[in-house]
Amino acid sequence: RWFAGGQTNLCHNAVDRHLATRGDQNALIFVSTETNIEKAYSFKELHAEVQRMAAILKDLGVKKGDRVLIYMPMIAEACFAMLACVRIGAIHSVVFGGFASHALASRIEDATPTLIISADAGMRGGKVVPYKHLLDEAIRLSSHKPANVLMVNRGLADLHPVEGRDQDYATLRQANMDTVVPCEWVDSTHPSYILYTSGTTGKPKGVQRDTAGYAVALAASMKHIYMGNPGETYFSTSDIGWVVGHSYIIYGPLIGGMATIMYEGLPIRPDAGIWWQLVEKYKVSVMFSAPTAARVLKKQDPSYLTKYDLSSLKALFLAGEPLDVPTATWIGGALNKPIIDNYWQTETGWPIMAICNGVEQAPTKFGSPGKAVYGFDVQLIDETTGEEITEANKKGVIAVNGPLPPGCLQTVWGDDKRYVSTYWSSIHNKVMYSTFDWGVKDEDGYFFILGRTDDVINVAGHRLGTREIEESISSHSNVAEVAVVGVADQLKGQVAVAFAVLKDPSVASTEADAQKLEAVIMKVVDDQLGAVARPARIRFVTVLPKTRSGKLLRRAIQAVCEGRDAGDLTTMEDPAALQQIKDSVTH
Ligand code: PRX
Repeated sequence: RWFAGGQTNLCHNAVDRHLATRGDQNALIFVSTETNIEKAYSFKELHAEVQRMAAILKDLGVKKGDRVLIYMPMIAEACFAMLACVRIGAIHSVVFGGFASHALASRIEDATPTLIISADAGMRGGKVVPYKHLLDEAIRLSSHKPANVLMVNRGLADLHPVEGRDQDYATLRQANMDTVVPCEWVDSTHPSYILYTSGTTGKPKGVQRDTAGYAVALAASMKHIYMGNPGETYFSTSDIGWVVGHSYIIYGPLIGGMATIMYEGLPIRPDAGIWWQLVEKYKVSVMFSAPTAARVLKKQDPSYLTKYDLSSLKALFLAGEPLDVPTATWIGGALNKPIIDNYWQTETGWPIMAICNGVEQAPTKFGSPGKAVYGFDVQLIDETTGEEITEANKKGVIAVNGPLPPGCLQTVWGDDKRYVSTYWSSIHNKVMYSTFDWGVKDEDGYFFILGRTDDVINVAGHRLGTREIEESISSHSNVAEVAVVGVADQLKGQVAVAFAVLKDPSVASTEADAQKLEAVIMKVVDDQLGAVARPARIRFVTVLPKTRSGKLLRRAIQAVCEGRDAGDLTTMEDPAALQQIKDSVTH
């Protein structure tokens, strides 16, 4: 608990607080290269829109402490919705628009929202991605049914309105043009939001964030890590469905009195200069993206990076997945700007490791996200003995000594036991927060991240649980068993690859039949979890490598897929199983 006994409001700090000093300055800049809409909202205009949205929420019966699930594309209304929730003390839970009905249903079931806010569709690469049928299916699958669904109609796809449940945002907004909705003061420790993230089990965990600790952590990080000043513009290319979107598209920049850009579109459409064109146009001073985006740009004509005036830009921050040295070197050189890697998690809400140039200038070492950030007592722990590793360059589990600093998760929504057992009891004999990442520290105190200790994979900076993907694939009637592993990929960092044992293998006996079945199973994953979770390949085998006690040897499968030595296999039940995997990937 941080700042217990205090009262505050996140929306007040992000919006209202700035009205007197910078009411007419840009607060939110919405840019969609998909619909060719670009619109800037000043703090005053944002204040008005958020109050309209808050009035609608109240009209629809949303009260302090109620959950509101937001399943929306990257549009300004999504920002209004998040801020409107915290304004009235409601707890939002944003679900990434790339997730499909089953993934959405499990989150509805867990968060039990009073209201869901959604839109007819998103757009990606010029294609309409309809949302509404996925939402309807998710509500059908969930045992919890929200009383109302508020729909933003962009005129892109059919709405299929459900009588008595679905409400039209434009109509209700019109009725509330001038409604005043004051901020509801909440306890410092009042939950501001729940954000689901993947872990070891198939069931996603609802990371619960507080209010005051989060506001303080973000405000401080703006100054000490990102070096963003009030009146400047922040551009984070993430999505509001992920933690980077929460902290550094919406709350961090706005709390810091900065304008924030919400971008719907690809980094290479209409051409690979689009982001830098926006940097020039809006005088962006801080930019935040993921290493995969940098690798995508690396494949394009490099002249796009020097075509625009980037003099306002202080640095490009990259996070979410390992930043490889060649990519960091390339983009740093091409932009002629500092590249700052930073390491953190949905759970922490802001960086655990970074170079804090706003505190003390320090050189960057490519390949390392820097040193432990103030507030995090980071230690490397030997997995088998539970002892701290003090020797340089020796691998251990990255752990944090409690208490976690302000801004980090309070608990797992509705499951304190799971919070304690997952995060604070996983390292041998230690009551320490586990990041579930491996790391090493060099002689100068710089950390290097070596991948997850659990079954989480990282595809293009998107955190996915292999167990969730396995559960989805297993729902196909012909799948007896399946193992999903993350395999190193040049562009995306990792991709998911599945190995499935079929009940009736004759269905996939020819190459053509196997391909057909692979496509069918991929469609199952698309429909249930979303294309974001779709494996790059599904290969069919007759047996999976397991220990004699029946545990799947995922690490060995992964090693074989990456052409590495599979390690100690003395406990393996049937060595031929691994040979099959080997044959299927070299084939
Ligand atoms: O494995 C680490 C990896 O991403 C995980 C957290 O993902 P998520 O909850 O989506 O939060 C992302 C916030 C930026 C971590 O456990 N990861 C994140 N940043 C880095 C990283 N791996 C290497 N280098 C990083 N900078």
